[in-house]
Amino acid sequence: MLGYWSYTSPYRNMIVGVDTKVPLSNGNSSTYINFDNAATTPPFVSVLKEIIDFSPWYSSINRGKGYKSQISSNLYENSRKIVLNFVKADEKYNTVIYVKNTTEGINKLSYRLCDKNNECVILSTNMEHHSNDLPWRDKYKLDYIKLDKNGRLSMEDLEQKLINYKGNVKLVTISGASNVTGFLNPIYDVARLAHQYAAKILVDGAQLVPHVPMDMKNQDSLEHIDFLVFSAHKMYAPFGIGVLIGPKEIFKKGEPHYKGGGTVDFVTHDYVIWNDPPNNEEAGTPNVMGVIALVAAINTLNQIGMNNIESYENALLRYTVSALKNIEDVELYGDLDNLNNKVAIIPFNIKGIHHSKVAEILSSKAGIAVRTGCFCAQPYVQELLNISKEESLNFIKDSKQKRPGMIRASFGLYNSFFEIDYFINVLKHIVKNKNLYIN
Ligand code: ALA
Repeated sequence: MLGYWSYTSPYRNMIVGVDTKVPLSNGNSSTYINFDNAATTPPFVSVLKEIIDFSPWYSSINRGKGYKSQISSNLYENSRKIVLNFVKADEKYNTVIYVKNTTEGINKLSYRLCDKNNECVILSTNMEHHSNDLPWRDKYKLDYIKLDKNGRLSMEDLEQKLINYKGNVKLVTISGASNVTGFLNPIYDVARLAHQYAAKILVDGAQLVPHVPMDMKNQDSLEHIDFLVFSAHKMYAPFGIGVLIGPKEIFKKGEPHYKGGGTVDFVTHDYVIWNDPPNNEEAGTPNVMGVIALVAAINTLNQIGMNNIESYENALLRYTVSALKNIEDVELYGDLDNLNNKVAIIPFNIKGIHHSKVAEILSSKAGIAVRTGCFCAQPYVQELLNISKEESLNFIKDSKQKRPGMIRASFGLYNSFFEIDYFINVLKHIVKNKNLYIN
């Protein structure tokens, strides 16, 4: 069952805090099990080491002539190439803009994409995180690509919408991997179609880049990815940095949304010459510590090998899904026949117990951390739970009603089969003693 992997993860000692004990409700303590990696991951040891090693050299970026400023500025600027290489982006066309996180990256792009007076259509999907939905709503005509009965993207609906909008679709924006079901979207098929209809594609890589090898492809390929966003805090580098990659040209026209120090070349009271990208998009003192952490994380991920990470996490996924399928009263969501096209995220419920109660028991009785609710993707969860528009309205009218949702287990490269066995046993205990927990 375990294949050639040992019971624990071969990468476990690369992570800070895997042996941390947390208190339980019975007064004992237990080693913390983190199955909430889709929300955020703990740091790599290498990341913390790099932060400490670099700290004596830390200084102002692109603002000082001092020796330390030169060191800091060079590391900061040279990091962009490392990031581009990591995701195989075409260097000639693309720029790396540092942001706080994926959410900020998408918001930033939403101000740049289309001249205000033009009629622009954005196609998002019914499976997006709110961050890849809400920023588009107030600026463009937004439409949502439908899903099939399993909650996967409908390529037929995408094509039909591209045809119907007659060349007005400016951008197709999709998650690389869903933060609810873990489904991997066919980003290259989507890119090919979008480009055939003169649209660009944005991939929200928050749940993709830390888990599978990413290739934005050469600009000449019909399958290239135009824009990619992702967050370092989901890839073992929690120092407040994210990445927006896209064509330099897009960020050259017009004005940046955030204005201030670093964004300008020359200013009088009546005139401003904006800097070229990426600097015009990075107002204020840049987050060099975040960048140092991100580069350290990329180096460590490359050392392990993204293919190895993908295989290992897929083995964790298969092991868990097959165990969960055997527990009576566990309801799993999404397409579980095709575990190849999925990162290790598993949404489920236990029949008869509210999702937040299950999470509370897992934490207080066993030290296991999961996330519950709708995972900032409420329309998608409503669709997976078959909640009608009318039923949703009831939740708006009555804010005291218990909200629907799911429990989500999401794995990182350091999680182990041992932890999963423990988790499964605790779930069996909860199911068996359900009457104690029903409220
Ligand atoms: N988007 C993150 C999650 O899915 C925060 O939990």
